[in-house]
Amino acid sequence: MTLRQQNGQFNTLLNNEWVESGSGETIKIYSPDDHALTGEVPALSQEEVDTAIRSTAAVQENWEASEGHERSQLLHRWADELEKMTAEIGLMIHKEVGKTLSSAEGEVKRTAELIRHTAEEGLRTHGSFIQGDAFPGASKSTKAMVQKVPHGVVLAVSPFNYPVNLAASKIAPALITGNTVVFKPATQGAVSGLLMVEALVKAGLPEGVLNVVTGRGSVIGDFAVTHPKVDMITFTGGTDTGKHIAGKASMIPVVLELGGKDPAIVLEDADLDKAAKEIVSGAFSYSGQRCTAIKRVMVMDNVADELLQKVQELVKGLKVGKSSEDASVTPMIDQKSAEYVLSLIDDARNKGAVIVEEGLQEKNLLGPTLLDHVTEDMEVAWEEQFGPVLPFMRIANELEAVDLEKRNAYGLQASIFTKNLENAFAIADKLNVGTVQVNGKTSRGPDHFPFLGVKNSGQGVQGIGRSIDSMLRDKVLVLNL
Ligand code: NAP
Ligand code: G3H
Repeated sequence: MTLRQQNGQFNTLLNNEWVESGSGETIKIYSPDDHALTGEVPALSQEEVDTAIRSTAAVQENWEASEGHERSQLLHRWADELEKMTAEIGLMIHKEVGKTLSSAEGEVKRTAELIRHTAEEGLRTHGSFIQGDAFPGASKSTKAMVQKVPHGVVLAVSPFNYPVNLAASKIAPALITGNTVVFKPATQGAVSGLLMVEALVKAGLPEGVLNVVTGRGSVIGDFAVTHPKVDMITFTGGTDTGKHIAGKASMIPVVLELGGKDPAIVLEDADLDKAAKEIVSGAFSYSGQRCTAIKRVMVMDNVADELLQKVQELVKGLKVGKSSEDASVTPMIDQKSAEYVLSLIDDARNKGAVIVEEGLQEKNLLGPTLLDHVTEDMEVAWEEQFGPVLPFMRIANELEAVDLEKRNAYGLQASIFTKNLENAFAIADKLNVGTVQVNGKTSRGPDHFPFLGVKNSGQGVQGIGRSIDSMLRDKVLVLNL
């Protein structure tokens, strides 16, 4: 069988065979843009997930025994094949998760670069050698060789919003280090994920080294997470799901990249034009459905009106519509998410927020909404909206911003806009987040930078080099001469 069936259904990958589910059950995926049927993927049973995991485990030792430079070559070929499929995969991402075509194709190209960089960086992993004499009672004749070895089978679980990039950013570091992979794509995004895997098969993936398990996380997720043959989990998605997984997994490493409530802190000496531009792009690209989207603005009261005016002007220029119309603000992933955003707007309105700009509301398409005078009692001040609404909180001094951020349940990133770098560094030191951006929007890339969240935003670190590290553990061989 092939990946694509005649009837528009897609198969999943088991030991380099494209297969249906035994029951024939599928999950239909509809485009958030026009609600047209985009594809159908197999709804695997727990027994089928078990087979996929055990097959992956069975070939792990062989894969680990392969030469590192061969694994690197496979990744290079994967990047090449992926790039050749840019138009096809880009179109699928566009339809499946409602990104504009250019942004969807950009995701594929970024992913090819990420895989290439991983293929190179993975060649440079090495262990260390330690002499015993630094510790009292031991001598130079006791020597430790610390090797870096893979965990074994990695379960890679990805979210809908980067169905290719946030899958490959887990799969590539796992493979280069000699782990085998069970890939669980987000259901909305699964077809794009399968196409990405097709590129890997074309590149020469050995049988069983990566298997794909499609199906609802609510049905097969816990089974996979608690499977005795899974040795490590790498997950990106919502905080509730991530916490649930961390609670279920037992005695294995779990890397989590979760939600965020990233603030843009704007001081009175900031370049307000630049701040406004970065804020609008940071808050509204892909309709705010990015963990790193700017999700609240904390602005000094004496420049708040001016900043808001500049932000509003830019927001008015954003095209709202379907991703097929190349709009900037496009339909949200589903109706439930849109309703959640509307509930946050209503709560803020009822509690006295000023609606500076109210976006169109048409099913799951929401235009950008700007809320001013947002106060601490409003849900939108703290909850992750993951949509196109931006709250402005006015502050009297920078300590207020630090205090607000300290009470943030999330800790992904924060932006500070100021011309005073010394001040920026001082504030950055006080913020308990993974990354602080100075005079730029919050965002993950460049992809070789460490990327992490603290508090409810995650555990462990990603970014190419750190992701590779997370896929390896120490193994110590002691020579007693
Ligand atoms: P989600 O609902 O948490 O789903 C993420 C993945 O987890 C999907 O593949 C989902 O499968 C799967 N899943 C669900 N229940 C599971 C379980 N019990 N065991 C194992 N897997 C399970 O997140 P999302 O809606 O795709 O993404 C939105 C959220 O992710 C936002 O909160 C956003 O901030 C966060 N996010 C964070 C980052 C980051 O890097 N920090 C990046 C992207 C997104 P199904 O699709 O089949 O349910
Ligand atoms: O949604 C979470 C992603 O990790 C954000 O990545 O900053 O490149 O959009 P990005």
